Amino acid sequence: MGERPSLGEEIVGRIEALAAISETPGQLTRIFLTPEHRAGADLILAWMREAGMRAHLDAIGNVCGRYEGVAQGLPCLMLGSHYDTVRDAGKWDGPLGLITAISCVSDLNRRGKRLPYAIEVVGFADEEGVRFASTLLGSRAVAGTFDESVLDGRDAAGVTMRNALRQFGLDPDHIGDAARTRRELLAYLELHIEQGPVLEAQDLPVGVVTAIAGATRMAARLAGMAGHAGTVPMMLRRDALTGAAECIGAIEEFCRTDGNGLVGTVGYIDARPGATNVIAGQVSFTIDIRAPADGHRKRAVSDIVRQIEAIAKRRNLALQLDVTHENRTVPCAPWLQAQIAAAITAEGVSVFELPSGAGHDGMAMIDIADVGMVFVRCRGGVSHHPDEHVELADADAAARVLLHVIENFRGREEVSSSGGLQGTGFS
Ligand code: GLV
Ligand code: MN
Ligand code: MN
Repeated sequence: MGERPSLGEEIVGRIEALAAISETPGQLTRIFLTPEHRAGADLILAWMREAGMRAHLDAIGNVCGRYEGVAQGLPCLMLGSHYDTVRDAGKWDGPLGLITAISCVSDLNRRGKRLPYAIEVVGFADEEGVRFASTLLGSRAVAGTFDESVLDGRDAAGVTMRNALRQFGLDPDHIGDAARTRRELLAYLELHIEQGPVLEAQDLPVGVVTAIAGATRMAARLAGMAGHAGTVPMMLRRDALTGAAECIGAIEEFCRTDGNGLVGTVGYIDARPGATNVIAGQVSFTIDIRAPADGHRKRAVSDIVRQIEAIAKRRNLALQLDVTHENRTVPCAPWLQAQIAAAITAEGVSVFELPSGAGHDGMAMIDIADVGMVFVRCRGGVSHHPDEHVELADADAAARVLLHVIENFRGREEVSSSGGLQGTGFS
């Protein structure tokens, strides 16, 4: 595939270097606004500068690099992904897209190549939403849709986002400064590991993403009555933990029997006071519901909420249920899909299209730019797990595809005026 030197080695080396920055020895955990997150940002800033970009940290902690085009100040093709992780994460979810984009710019810079548009690379600060109840905080700040009320939200240790931003060295009163406008962006492109098994089954290194599935996240709190494990008869208990267990079982059963791609996850639970010999009086848990079709997801969420309310009522538990995140399904722009497909073909690989079940920063960026995504095969489809793995050859193939898209990029208007959008639903 092509005659250029391998970018894969540099990319894999940097994936390892970034993965070494973790708050948990022997595991990878790099959570929004922690000291390790800051150290990761500093390393990425250095790579961006080395690649010939001007680079800075924006008001929410996104790492932003800019490689000017043939003239200063041109609109940009924005490339990005996130540099925060889940707990005990894989190395590739987020960093692969970010590091690959930097390597592509570095390649352009080595060749002294300037394009008729600028290239910007953004390492989004929070995509995973692990620390605070909200998610996509980095890309929402860039899209100008950051909800300032989340600044008063607290992490599990009681630290507000406002204070965490200050500790990171940022000013929470200036989040608005991170916002960009539609005029400044020609498109937003993200390369990401697939996080599923489809490309591996197709024996393909890369694929074209058609859409990013919508999601609803909720925080549930059940309050009953704490009490003595030895003295309160079973019939007289208001046990918040067994109530939560019944809710969790109901969510799983509902999604398992759906048959239309609905998935539901309870990935976090906290029981208080949390002792072997005390009945749990208060339990908090999260709910994450996704489906390929928005209408189906919304109906499912309503049904699940009704079931949880019924369980709480029957068990005499007080229920508080808040929606913490809601994103509609985001279609990838057909004119960008076409350019990604052309790049894949040019690299000698068959074009395969697939939707994304995982969330991505494009879900926020859609508010200011058309979105395109390239997926990269990952071993066994494993993700959000330390065994997450991408082969060097696949990282290399993906980088070549991205570089091809970057160098041959044509803006929507250019494509449209040459008739290239005919038959795509765009005009
Ligand atoms: C992000 O990784 C998500 O899909 O939750
Ligand atoms: Mn993730
Ligand atoms: Mn990701």
